[in-house]
Amino acid sequence: MVFGFLGFGKLASALVEGMLEANCCAADEVLVINRHPEDLVRRADKLGIRLASRPRQLVQQSDAIIVGTKPADCLQLLREVRPYLDGKLLISVAAGISLDSLQTAAGHRTRVIRAMPNTPSLIRQGATAYALGDHATAKDAETAEHIFSSVGLAFRVKEIAIDAVTGLSGSGPAYVFTFIEALADGGVMMGLPREIALQLAIQTVLGSAQMVRDTQQHPALLREMVASPGGTTMAAIETLEMRGLRYTIMAAVRAAADRARELGKG
Ligand SMILES: NC(=O)c1ccc[n+]([C@@H]2O[C@H](COP(=O)([O-])OP(=O)(O)OC[C@H]3O[C@@H](n4cnc5c(N)ncnc54)[C@H](OP(=O)(O)O)[C@@H]3O)[C@@H](O)[C@H]2O)c1
Repeated sequence: MVFGFLGFGKLASALVEGMLEANCCAADEVLVINRHPEDLVRRADKLGIRLASRPRQLVQQSDAIIVGTKPADCLQLLREVRPYLDGKLLISVAAGISLDSLQTAAGHRTRVIRAMPNTPSLIRQGATAYALGDHATAKDAETAEHIFSSVGLAFRVKEIAIDAVTGLSGSGPAYVFTFIEALADGGVMMGLPREIALQLAIQTVLGSAQMVRDTQQHPALLREMVASPGGTTMAAIETLEMRGLRYTIMAAVRAAADRARELGKG
């Protein structure tokens, strides 16, 4: 199966590297193109993948086409290659572009999948949800699963859930980065050297996330393990509850999901 990447930027590069590492395909089964192809030659050579000379050639020679451009460039590019997309599988990672818009731009016989990855995909710790268009098959879902699993976790959802996914895992890394920064600042405020405070904050978030994943315990149970009666952690938790941390995070997910829905309406 030949995978064609229409737009080979940060996310597409991570996907290709992940796919090659996971033996999801051979290097010569990957075809890429960019708007400004000058620096692509070196990158493609390094990975052993092939360069297309024009978008049209890439589409003609690929079985699955992954559109890796920014959302603003996506639909115009699809309209340009529409005559060659007939019967092909098209996977879009463009935030906010609906299956309906993709289908209209790509033609009614194209099998379309819309995916919502997040930035940790760039270090293969991503979380992606994808939704199938009307003509996409179970085999196409498997292809998407392979691609996105190579850079993290992948889940199939209905398109209606994609805005919620955007609010949670799509924008979520920004909430976690803010939390890490605030945790480190708290340490600095209490007298820790800045570099040590940041390293402690990073490792605390990383270790806690890994602990939830590895033990499969509910986060509330794990929190109880840290918070002994009358202890320091309960004092901190009282403050977090008083200031509405949980409500604030839930409201942030709602705000991002609502905004994604608004932007999606165009
Ligand atoms: N980065 C992430 O972590 C992330 C997370 C979730 C979703 N996404 C989605 O992934 C998509 C790409 O994001 P990115 O961060 O990888 O962006 P990026 O690094 O800017 O990559 C976009 C690529 O598309 C190419 N391109 C634009 N127009 C083109 C055209 N007409 N023909 C061929 N190539 C074209 C650009 O080439 P030139 O550089 O030559 O212009 C560039 O290499 C976006 O739609 C974004 O919503 C990204």
